[in-house]
Amino acid sequence: MQILGIDIGGSGIKGAPVDTETGQLLAERIRIKTPKSGEPEPMAEVVKQIAQSFNWDGPIGIGFPAPIKSGVAMMAANVSEKWVGTNADALFTKITGCDCTMINDADAAGLAEMTFGTGRGQPGTVILLTLGTGIGSAIFHRGNLLPNTEFGHLRMKGQDAEFRASDAARQRENLSWEEYAKRLDKYLRRMETLFWPDLFIIGGGISKESEKFLPLLTLDTPVVPAQLLNEAGIVGAALAVRAGI
Ligand code: BGC
Repeated sequence: MQILGIDIGGSGIKGAPVDTETGQLLAERIRIKTPKSGEPEPMAEVVKQIAQSFNWDGPIGIGFPAPIKSGVAMMAANVSEKWVGTNADALFTKITGCDCTMINDADAAGLAEMTFGTGRGQPGTVILLTLGTGIGSAIFHRGNLLPNTEFGHLRMKGQDAEFRASDAARQRENLSWEEYAKRLDKYLRRMETLFWPDLFIIGGGISKESEKFLPLLTLDTPVVPAQLLNEAGIVGAALAVRAGI
């Protein structure tokens, strides 16, 4: 099945048609800057533009950085408040003229990793964390996703964990890899004692540099980098449509 996968992020909106059987992109992905306002309608116009550049009129899966229930964004941590309560599936479908389905961005990345990446065939409980502007999370048991977990908002030292342990926090505070690994270790240990996973997968742009911080972690659960890097969000958004999530 061919589905247009879109990954909406704070700085860019990326998309490409995906073969959901193989996880391959069927054309080079397109990236357009995220509109400054970050509001739903201008974002939908960008998705329309991407669809048009592929002459697309089929289904579209869209990963978005918020919990999504029946197409509605429930909370806005790093996006405009205007999203909350908006039926994004309906709005994007109206503007693009294609059948659009939204899914949380980390759930999308997790689906892709579990199907075509590091998580493939992993039994037990797997937690994928994307470390970027925020911390996104996806938890799987025997390959089944429990959608919309928001483990980046676990409180640590009176703050959201993503404020302390995301890649944005590392850059904002100019942390060395040792300092950053210490923070991440604390966060992962906390997750470990709450969920007892069999495996953590670390995604997001930072996974490209995993050799700089993963060896410094001290927790017992294995922690591995994601394999699909930049493409996980696009591929996973397409898979979510196929899976009817
Ligand atoms: C949002 C999540 C999202 C994560 C990564 C968090 O701030 O609440 O829904 O998955 O950022 O983008």
